[in-house]
Amino acid sequence: MNKGMFITFEGGDGSGKSTQIEILSGALEATGFDVLTTREPGGTAISEAVRNILLDPDNGEMSPVTEAMLYGAARAQLVHQVIKPALENGMIVICDRFLDSSIAYQGYGRQLGDIVEKINEPAIDECMPEITFFMNLDPEVASGRIGERGEDKDRIESESEEFHRRVAKGYEELEKKYPDRIVPIDASETVDKISVKIIETVMTRIYQR
Ligand code: TYD
Repeated sequence: MNKGMFITFEGGDGSGKSTQIEILSGALEATGFDVLTTREPGGTAISEAVRNILLDPDNGEMSPVTEAMLYGAARAQLVHQVIKPALENGMIVICDRFLDSSIAYQGYGRQLGDIVEKINEPAIDECMPEITFFMNLDPEVASGRIGERGEDKDRIESESEEFHRRVAKGYEELEKKYPDRIVPIDASETVDKISVKIIETVMTRIYQR
């Protein structure tokens, strides 16, 4: 078992993930823990280069299997170079998205099914999160929040409504399959209310050890 603790966040653009990651990492640091925050796809020079290929709207010809493997490749490098060493050093690692994203987007969204887990087996190298916060937000509220920020959509965000419905179904299935690990969060609640729940959940888990 790792000395550190691995925590991940899942949820779409506009769900408030980044805000909650910042609050949680600040709270843990203030309590005296060493915290490392990172994101997927990305977090190392190689993984950020792969991210650019994955999200580039000009790469419309990418095959679903290529896409799944590139997310896996970015993940393999991040686990090897950043996540595992930090956990071995006893740090709390908080990652914005992880394997669940691949299962939801490539497994369900692209309809690749179980091969996504197979592709990712060597990438995650038995490194699975202990807690995953899933920020659940109605797609319409989320798209309103994104619209306010005026950002351009990346290649995945530009996918059809049908694709995003399958992704949401994927997350629902994951929640059912891993009720001990995945903590659903109602992302329409206030920032303060959500952060209290998240911090309490993490602290409880730490002191249960
Ligand atoms: P990002 O801008 O980081 O998205 P967000 O703010 O929504 O977290 O872009 C990452 C995109 O990549 C996002 O649309 C989800 C997608 N994705 C996958 O399809 N599979 C994966 O394994 C991961 C990690 C992300």
